[in-house]
Amino acid sequence: MKYNFDSLIDRTHTSSVKYDLRQAVFDKSDVIPMWVADMDFETPAFIRDAVIRRAKHPVYGYTFREKDYYQPVVAWMQSHHNWTIRREEIVFSPGVVPALSFAVMAFTKPGDKIIVQPPVYPPITRAVSDHGRIVVNNQLIREEITYLVDFALLEEQAKDAKMLILCNPHNPVGRCWSRGELERIAQICLENHVMVFSDEIHADLVIPGFRHQVFANLSPEASGITLTAHAPSKTFNLAGLSSSSVIITNPALRATFSQMIEKMHLGMGNLFGSVASTAAYEQGEPWRLQLIDYLYENISFTETFIRENITALHMFRPEGTYMIWLDFRAYGLDDKALRSKLIHEAGLGFNPGTEFGPGGEGFMRMNIACPRSTLMIALGQLGRMLSGG
Ligand SMILES: Cc1ncc(COP(=O)(O)O)c(C=O)c1O
Repeated sequence: MKYNFDSLIDRTHTSSVKYDLRQAVFDKSDVIPMWVADMDFETPAFIRDAVIRRAKHPVYGYTFREKDYYQPVVAWMQSHHNWTIRREEIVFSPGVVPALSFAVMAFTKPGDKIIVQPPVYPPITRAVSDHGRIVVNNQLIREEITYLVDFALLEEQAKDAKMLILCNPHNPVGRCWSRGELERIAQICLENHVMVFSDEIHADLVIPGFRHQVFANLSPEASGITLTAHAPSKTFNLAGLSSSSVIITNPALRATFSQMIEKMHLGMGNLFGSVASTAAYEQGEPWRLQLIDYLYENISFTETFIRENITALHMFRPEGTYMIWLDFRAYGLDDKALRSKLIHEAGLGFNPGTEFGPGGEGFMRMNIACPRSTLMIALGQLGRMLSGG
């Protein structure tokens, strides 16, 4: 079956953050929204059908996850990531961002140091600072066409840190960390007794030519210090259904984390989230493969357009995720002026790089998970703005 990623879907007035909060965020209700990380493609019909089937039953009472909820997650990890896990190692969380906070609260104390790698997805850093822990910035090193980990700095920082929050694939710089890079991170963390929260929510959105390495799957030792967060929400466009898995092979860490979820009374989750998750993992592969092809073409289209038409703009080609990290520094605009021009002159709603912490100044993040026709219009508007037209 051939899926259609080209159709334009009106998402306004659906309580969509990306669309219906434009006035509040950009002070302009008609910017092309290329910010929040969800996709403008329809959630595939086999998932919608499963949700509708359940919704047709007239009672939406208290629920729990049956055995058949876990098995598809186990099978997916095996087939997609060559990672053998057991059902009991999966802990439900009502989202990866909540899981970050639960982990910070469960395993560290106020005043403890937690390492993050900016520029990085803002809720990762906020999960540290919101709970009174100290953010330690292991800022990524920007190279000509890619980003690297500052290992020398990490070695120093790990000496008195309690936790590292890894983002793999990395949002916003788009790196899929290589096995070698992850092994070095694991070695440093193991030597210094630093535990790892590995946010792998984008793991199933890797661009052809690259591959995702599950951090915990490097070795039993790495697995023993790691919580891995995974979810079908990015891949299948289900973010509104609040469902994710935290996979923890170490029984002691798992018990502590599970207790935190229980204490918060957040373990039940959402009835429809479970149904959608199972349909996604069981039936989603053909759709996912076509999605990846479409995203790959969107990335290539963007790259070619920028190379041919907006030569001073520098784009980091992502290895995973559907985010493009754009370097506007050659234009010499301060962040406020850049944001304002993008909104008011180009009519574009991007995420300012400054939201992602140190290293984000002069950058913007652009979400290209939209029909190609929308992307073409957006790039045209961006090109005209930057050429002063
Ligand atoms: C790296 C990363 N982690 C987590 C999330 C969101 O997770 P959730 O919606 O499950 O809380 C996002 C969404 O953009 C993300 O990019």
